[in-house]
Amino acid sequence: MTEPFTIAIDGPAAAGKGTISRAIAAHFDMAHLDTGLLYRAVGARMLLGEDAATAARTLVASDLDNDSLRTQAVAQAASQVAVIADVRAALLDFQRAFARRAGGAVLDGRDIGTVICPQAEVKLFVTASAEVRAKRRFDELVQRGQPADLDAVTADVKARDARDMDRAEAPLKPADDAVLIDTSNQTIDEAVASAIEVVTAKKG
Ligand code: CDP
Ligand code: CDP
Repeated sequence: MTEPFTIAIDGPAAAGKGTISRAIAAHFDMAHLDTGLLYRAVGARMLLGEDAATAARTLVASDLDNDSLRTQAVAQAASQVAVIADVRAALLDFQRAFARRAGGAVLDGRDIGTVICPQAEVKLFVTASAEVRAKRRFDELVQRGQPADLDAVTADVKARDARDMDRAEAPLKPADDAVLIDTSNQTIDEAVASAIEVVTAKKG
């Protein structure tokens, strides 16, 4: 059983966090947690009329296994419930326990390197211009056959970034010791290669 080893990956919407996290987890044979899914699941239950903090305290695995969490409406709801201190507190222990599991773990989100795992062995802050990120999200919606308008998606991404950066609780920002990866002009393979290089250097 290998020791815990935590890789924290933060950044704004559609920067490439999930893509890089999945690739790193596969490369180093570690578990991966997309923490955005936790907030999306709480947001989805809020949209159905539930109290957000109650939803956060009673989340179950099947709440996370749902294609309907990938809509823009649920993304906005996620960022609305994410400002609530009780919601964040209810999700903390699960994320910290996941991060310290034997064999190592990759967590991606907004506050992994700053709040959830300030002692993470590796911290990456993945970013890209708002225009590039909005186009990526737009392309995903088109691919999934969902209704999409580039101007609306751009406005949505910018509104969510602003809410995530300006909130009092665990705002989106790079940890002081995070390595920045700007994927604006990188292919997925290039972004993954630079992330693997950083992890390899720290893992020894
Ligand atoms: O997890 P996050 O929201 O940060 O982004 P993602 O889901 O990993 O990536 C958003 C979209 O951008 C996906 O469709 C990726 O395939 C694409 N992408 C890209 O085109 N180039 C990159 N360097 C990284 C991601
Ligand atoms: O995939 P994308 O980057 O668009 O979003 P996500 O990672 O699924 O996160 C959805 C929303 O959840 C974000 O806009 C944040 O408001 C919130 N979130 C957060 O506050 N803290 C995290 N660790 C992860 C997500």
